[in-house]
Amino acid sequence: MKVLAFNGSPRMKMGVTDKILQTFIQGAESAGAETETVYIAKKNIKFCSGCFNCWFKHPGKCIHDDDMMEIRMKIKAADLLVFGSPVYFDGFTAQMKAMLDRLIAGGMPFIEVRDGHSRHPSRGAEKKTRKMLLISTCGFGEKDNFDPIIHHMKAIAKNFATGEYMGALVRPVGSSLEMLKDENPAGVKNVLDAFFQAGVEAVTTGGISDKLQEAVSAPLITLEEFVARANQMFQTLITQKKSLQN
Ligand SMILES: Cc1cc2nc3c(=O)[nH]c(=O)nc-3n(C[C@H](O)[C@H](O)[C@H](O)COP(=O)(O)O)c2cc1C
Repeated sequence: MKVLAFNGSPRMKMGVTDKILQTFIQGAESAGAETETVYIAKKNIKFCSGCFNCWFKHPGKCIHDDDMMEIRMKIKAADLLVFGSPVYFDGFTAQMKAMLDRLIAGGMPFIEVRDGHSRHPSRGAEKKTRKMLLISTCGFGEKDNFDPIIHHMKAIAKNFATGEYMGALVRPVGSSLEMLKDENPAGVKNVLDAFFQAGVEAVTTGGISDKLQEAVSAPLITLEEFVARANQMFQTLITQKKSLQN
């Protein structure tokens, strides 16, 4: 199985997204998958200009000559697409969204109604299904902060000609994995083990059980305690004129 992962965090390898995404990828590799991670912030990806030249004037070819053609080729070769993005204002990061918008060049203008929903058929003869998985983290503590991004991921999988939603691995209070590693090592280990196991399961069964999707979100700290500690830390950083380290 070929797994193509996208990391849409501008913090790339410094961020929580990469920690959980790469733990999943290690699991997938241990089960025999061939993997590649694209760090979107490193790529030259211009915004879609909405001209539709890629549909009509020169089908399949965007007016922008940048790294998107290479990314579209990688997507074509993949069996599983993993979208790793932190929650930014309740959705995907701008980097991830810019990449997603540019995928329109890989579709055709015609409309196909399948399973009661409109899709644009994919360009070219090849029609294989690609599973789509969301891996996300956020700053707040409630799991419902992921509702909009999960909804968006499901909608993209329905809209994408060859897409099929696989699930979502979401980690609230992303900072807790680092903050609590000495205080609650067993809790942090269980969460990371669940991300690893999800990688194994995705490759060996083609899906991820509800149990593992729950386990990656397991609370490591109460909401009240997290809010109190976070606010205290923010006040200290403001007083000392420091920023977050990673
Ligand atoms: C511009 C911006 C918007 C954010 N919006 C949200 C948000 O709506 N909800 C939330 O829980 N966290 C939000 N966060 C926090 C990030 O999701 C969190 O810091 C996450 O760990 C960042 O991922 P990274 O470590 O991979 O960069 C936001 C952070 C930034 C910089």
